[in-house]
Amino acid sequence: MGIHDGKAVIVTGGALGIGGGASRGFAEEGARVIVADKDPHAGHQTVDEIKAKGGDATFVQADFSFSADAKRVVERAVAIYGGVDFVFNNVGIQPRTSYTNAEDTTEDIWDAIMSVNLKSYWLMAKYAIPEMRSRGGGVIVNNASVQGQQSAPLVTAYAASKGGVLSLTRQLSIDYARQNIRVLAVCPGSIDTPLMRDGISGDSGGVPDDMEAAIDIAGARSPIARIGTPEDVANVVVFLCSDKASFMTGEFVNVDGGVMAQGAWADLSRTK
Ligand SMILES: NC(=O)c1ccc[n+]([C@@H]2O[C@H](COP(=O)([O-])OP(=O)(O)OC[C@H]3O[C@@H](n4cnc5c(N)ncnc54)[C@H](O)[C@@H]3O)[C@@H](O)[C@H]2O)c1
Repeated sequence: MGIHDGKAVIVTGGALGIGGGASRGFAEEGARVIVADKDPHAGHQTVDEIKAKGGDATFVQADFSFSADAKRVVERAVAIYGGVDFVFNNVGIQPRTSYTNAEDTTEDIWDAIMSVNLKSYWLMAKYAIPEMRSRGGGVIVNNASVQGQQSAPLVTAYAASKGGVLSLTRQLSIDYARQNIRVLAVCPGSIDTPLMRDGISGDSGGVPDDMEAAIDIAGARSPIARIGTPEDVANVVVFLCSDKASFMTGEFVNVDGGVMAQGAWADLSRTK
């Protein structure tokens, strides 16, 4: 018996990283999972892992930079699992070429980040909400970031996209609360995923000789003094979709080892 037995969930970018953790986490709680991702190899692998443990999942190939794919993913979920109870809008990109100030940010990069990180979240809501309503309700969890609240140098488009995700979350929550559709966000800190490792490689000018040491250094910045895992975020997302969180909507939850609790003036070297 799982807390989501029989529920149908779509996880966008559900093959690897946080999305992969969430796909597995929902399946472990009995949900039927649509793993929607552009990477068929990784997507099938995640589905196979879930099935090997007795879970139910289906890979749907989708590229969320294309508007049409959001609608198609919802249609596939309805065709395969009969409807949609939850959406975890997780897909997100932060290409190295996007680490620029406003003057050097190109329109192509701005549009690419906005369409995947923000527009696809709205489109998934637009097409999944009628399906949720027809089942009497549902939950949407959006993956924002601590960078939606505070920023770092040179993340112009990414930071704007994540701030937009938090605003969209509030808006949807207000407009759909009376229809029993709750909308929440998670704000991860540093989480050990391919995206995070790409970021470290970019900062080091290539894959560092000791990636694990670099990961430990990134983790040491948080009060909890370790990097997060995809499962750390997935556990919160799975909880937010459950009835145990039934009085929560329009809210975001930091999953960051305490980073957002710490002042910029705090001694970052203290780990004990
Ligand atoms: N890793 C972190 O430290 C961190 C921190 C804060 C927020 N986030 C957010 O969490 C989310 C997931 O990040 P992650 O680190 O797991 O990323 P990741 O790059 O490790 O994994 C992303 C997944 O999305 C898929 N994907 C990428 N572009 C796609 C597209 N256009 N269409 C369909 N699938 C696509 C990839 O194939 C992959 O399976 C993102 O929204 C990211 O901004 C991550």
